[in-house]
Amino acid sequence: MNYSNDLSHQNKPKPKAVIVGGSIAGVSCAHALILAGWDVVVIEKSCRPPKGNPTGAGLAFDPLSQSSSAINDEKSRKILARDENFNHRAAHWSSLHHHLFSALPPEIFLWGHLFLSFSISKDKRPVKIRAQVLDTEETVEVDGDLLVAADGCNSLIRKNYFPDVKLRYSGYCGWRGVLDYSGIEDSKTIKNVREAYPELGKCLYIDLTPGNHTVFFEIPNKRLNWTWCLNQPEPHLKGNSVTMKVSDEMIQKMYQDAEKIWHPTLVQVMRETREPFVNAIYDCDPLERIVWDNVVLIGDAAHPTTPHSSRSTNMSILDAAVLGQCLEKWGSENLMAALEEYQSIRLPIASKQVLHARRVGRIKQGLELPDCKSFNPNTANWEECKTLLQRAVPFFGHNPLL
Ligand SMILES: Cc1cc2nc3c(=O)[nH]c(=O)nc-3n(C[C@H](O)[C@H](O)[C@H](O)COP(=O)(O)OP(=O)(O)OC[C@H]3O[C@@H](n4cnc5c(N)ncnc54)[C@H](O)[C@@H]3O)c2cc1C
Ligand SMILES: *[C@@H]1O[C@H](CO)[C@@H](O)[C@H](O)[C@H]1NC(C)=O
Ligand SMILES: *[C@@H]1O[C@H](CO)[C@@H](O)[C@H](O)[C@H]1NC(C)=O
Ligand SMILES: *[C@@H]1O[C@H](CO)[C@@H](O)[C@H](O)[C@H]1NC(C)=O
Repeated sequence: MNYSNDLSHQNKPKPKAVIVGGSIAGVSCAHALILAGWDVVVIEKSCRPPKGNPTGAGLAFDPLSQSSSAINDEKSRKILARDENFNHRAAHWSSLHHHLFSALPPEIFLWGHLFLSFSISKDKRPVKIRAQVLDTEETVEVDGDLLVAADGCNSLIRKNYFPDVKLRYSGYCGWRGVLDYSGIEDSKTIKNVREAYPELGKCLYIDLTPGNHTVFFEIPNKRLNWTWCLNQPEPHLKGNSVTMKVSDEMIQKMYQDAEKIWHPTLVQVMRETREPFVNAIYDCDPLERIVWDNVVLIGDAAHPTTPHSSRSTNMSILDAAVLGQCLEKWGSENLMAALEEYQSIRLPIASKQVLHARRVGRIKQGLELPDCKSFNPNTANWEECKTLLQRAVPFFGHNPLL
């Protein structure tokens, strides 16, 4: 993309936004705001941009994700629900990020800057943020007309408005891993995978047994991504990380438990995966507001979610797009109206999608729900299974923009 023709014809100074967080929401927002005629600066605590090489984790950013939910019945599979007629897309987080990031002017990024705090003043540039340069430990001030919080599910900026809002533990953790099968394409395991999961690469496979589910899909560069969710009390976690340390003993036990319930091929994939790890799964009750004065939340900062509808990345990108459109429509002189309209469009959609993902997760894990009995894939009827479809996600396929 070329932004150089973008300079406005009037000599009016451009409004300026400070975006905290340079992940998917932050870089998407930088694009949207530049297109809306704003100057932007992105404050990111990581010391350098992530490399574009796809070694990182995989990500099912379904716009339109095909999925198939099945139970393993006597080690054979029975399909419970299947989304048809759309393409499943999966990508590496790092390639998606690189794609968005490399199309932006590099000078808008302040890498290695840890956001500390902000204040709103009556000055010409009302937003003042303080950040620490991690290299030198010096504190700097950056000002702007708008503060965009794209600082993820543990957002400090959100905490400023909702000090009591806590992430909510889902009731289960996920064992996760990625098997890199380059070089072993012809192995027995991969042949078995192709046989047992013939549509891998075009389809998300969701295997269900009572109280457990796995998600299995292929990501580019010959990698197989799997997650197995298990119900358990909330683990004790250190700091802000949701990833737990696992011992060899835990891994061995995981293999043994997997053998009791999962397809032998999937178990083999788990066994051949290097360094599987455990994530505790959290989300957050929908917030009442995501905008105040000159501050707006986007992405995971606005709506931490469980992964069961693969909406997180989709929501982040759409938040950014709608925010950009609202700012362009109302102009910087009507910032409040622009932010209110952004909130009125995005908050109801994101809230419904978060609650839907929560519900789907509880169904798949056989956990209690207030309005129905807990789900058992062996006895479930079609009405119950329908919720598992991707296309059952609220606003699927009709995401209102402006
Ligand atoms: C490195 C990385 C890898 C990921 N990999 C996957 C994946 O494989 N699959 C998947 O589904 N999702 C992945 N995600 C998460 C996914 O991108 C997000 O859940 C979703 O797209 C929403 O993104 P977000 O930008 O709102 O939040 P996040 O991706 O959480 O980004 C928040 C950003 O804010 C920065 N930040 C936070 N606090 C501060 C502060 N005080 N000062 C400065 N900067 C701050 C963080 O460093 C981070 O870059 C990954 C995220 C990251 C950061
Ligand atoms: C596998 O895919 C899930 C769902 O998109 C994603 O959250 C996770 O990061 C991926 N896991 C790894 C280890 O790449
Ligand atoms: C999940 O599967 C394990 C077997 O690996 C089983 O012991 C456990 O009871 C199952 N969980 C629930 C909630 O049924
Ligand atoms: C988000 O998902 C919707 C389907 O619900 C799709 O129409 C849209 O293209 C997706 N957008 C992005 C940016 O992934």
